Amino acid sequence: MIQVLHISAECYPAAKTGGLGDVVGSLPKYQCAAGILSAAIIPKYSLKWINNQNWITVFQGEVWVNWSRRRFSVQQQANNTLGYPLFVVDIPGLFDRPGIYNEPDGRPYGDEVERYITFQQCVLEWLMSFPWHDRPRILHCHDHHSGLIPWMLKYCPQYQQLAPIPTVFTIHNGQYQGAFSWRSGDLLPPYEASARGLVDWNGTINPMASAVRCAWAVTTVSESYLYELHQSSMGLESLFHQEWRKQYGIINGIDAQVWDPATDSAIQHRLEGGDITQFKARNKKALCEWFNLPTDLPVISFIGRMVGEKGSDLLPDAFRNYLNAGGKASFLVLGTGEAWTQNQFRRLAWEYPNRVAAVIDYNEALAHQIYAGSDFLIMPSRVEPCGLNQMYSMRYGTIPIVRSVGGLKDTVPDIASPDGSGRGVRFDHFSLDDIGYAIHRAASMWHNDPQTLRWLRERVMAIDFSWEGVVERYFNVYRRCGAHIAAAAPQTVAEVVPELRVESPAALPEPEAKPIKPAAKAGRKKSPEAASPEAPAPEKVQRKTKKTTKS
Ligand code: GLC
Repeated sequence: MIQVLHISAECYPAAKTGGLGDVVGSLPKYQCAAGILSAAIIPKYSLKWINNQNWITVFQGEVWVNWSRRRFSVQQQANNTLGYPLFVVDIPGLFDRPGIYNEPDGRPYGDEVERYITFQQCVLEWLMSFPWHDRPRILHCHDHHSGLIPWMLKYCPQYQQLAPIPTVFTIHNGQYQGAFSWRSGDLLPPYEASARGLVDWNGTINPMASAVRCAWAVTTVSESYLYELHQSSMGLESLFHQEWRKQYGIINGIDAQVWDPATDSAIQHRLEGGDITQFKARNKKALCEWFNLPTDLPVISFIGRMVGEKGSDLLPDAFRNYLNAGGKASFLVLGTGEAWTQNQFRRLAWEYPNRVAAVIDYNEALAHQIYAGSDFLIMPSRVEPCGLNQMYSMRYGTIPIVRSVGGLKDTVPDIASPDGSGRGVRFDHFSLDDIGYAIHRAASMWHNDPQTLRWLRERVMAIDFSWEGVVERYFNVYRRCGAHIAAAAPQTVAEVVPELRVESPAALPEPEAKPIKPAAKAGRKKSPEAASPEAPAPEKVQRKTKKTTKS
């Protein structure tokens, strides 16, 4: 019997745009390993991984949304190769599209509200078909896409039978609340008139607000982020204050099997015999040769979506200032996002061909190599509910440089912290001065204090960021909601499944990564192509690459 059902819009490797996918793709696996059968359910998008699987139809039904009938089916991944059962809801016409939230060219699908309301209703219809003793003991909803479920269970008569099942709502990103106008109110299933106020926030329907009110427990992905939501959460602050008793901050884990420097098949040189110095030196050499960067300078990298939350718009100027002042470091960025930031990075790479490389792409395999080969990873986030990249980087001996916010604050104490718990370099203000000083501190350590750096690498690589310790905290939350979850004999986590293995070293940047030639400087410097290494990769590097969904 499924004890915990995770309901989400993303689940790696089926569908991922960011950390939500990583978390929903690994938490159930480790819950299963702890003896609690947990499953995940997401919409059936027309994405590569999903299309390549065999699916077994386990339920067929229909829902009515805004007076029109939608047929759907729930399908289970055959063979359970992920270490937990994965279900998808096939809703023809709504999700059989090549993107998750947007067209591949970036245009958002205009019917997000209808899509996710329908998805949530389909999940509930399916659950209604279970014999009562076989129903999940907990429905664990993630982010606003499944945020109406706690309300629907309590206040929509058609789902009343499910109302005794406790719901837990996890906020991965409070910036996106899924709010929409009451003009689309007809999309909601019929509800008790008195429950209208429970989905409303400031005159709009707000799924996140309704979940904070109606879920039995609310968790966020770090303690600091929970605190920050009380200070600033796009208008929901008073609601968070009001509902504080049922809120918990639980830091995410990482899938330590996928992120294992000793076995990772996406990196050039794996960790052998615990020789960290050699592991870092070899991977750095591979990375630097590839991107034409010097090995005798620290490599500071950024990996991630180039959006406001991640603060990447501060980096081009920060890097430029540092280089113009004669700073001795080189920079590497990988990611896609806002056009302005992308172009700034391209331009910088063109201006400093041997010191800056920019790959405007999403490339899971290349990310692994960058974690393994860089000296530092920089994360200047404006908002960071948890952040996984700093944990990935530490696991690969790359020291994080982070802004003191959310989960970054909780996972990266500064190297100067008086209690000696330091793991990286931290800065407080989102400003060029603060970030510049942080880069300076990191680079100085690299140049002047290799002993400390070596010791720090050993320390961060030994930290246990795995889910094993975290799942128990979720079980405690479930139990506090009164859920009778009971562990069967603990199982060992199955071998990394082929689906999760990121095969082969990274690919060379795609042609679109070529920098735009800045008009004013045309002719002054050598070809802009230099910024985006065109040269064939070294023999060993040039193997086939598996490109996954965007970051
Ligand atoms: C979101 C947050 C990120 C967090 C992830 C997983 O992507 O922005 O900080 O790590 O969700 O919870």
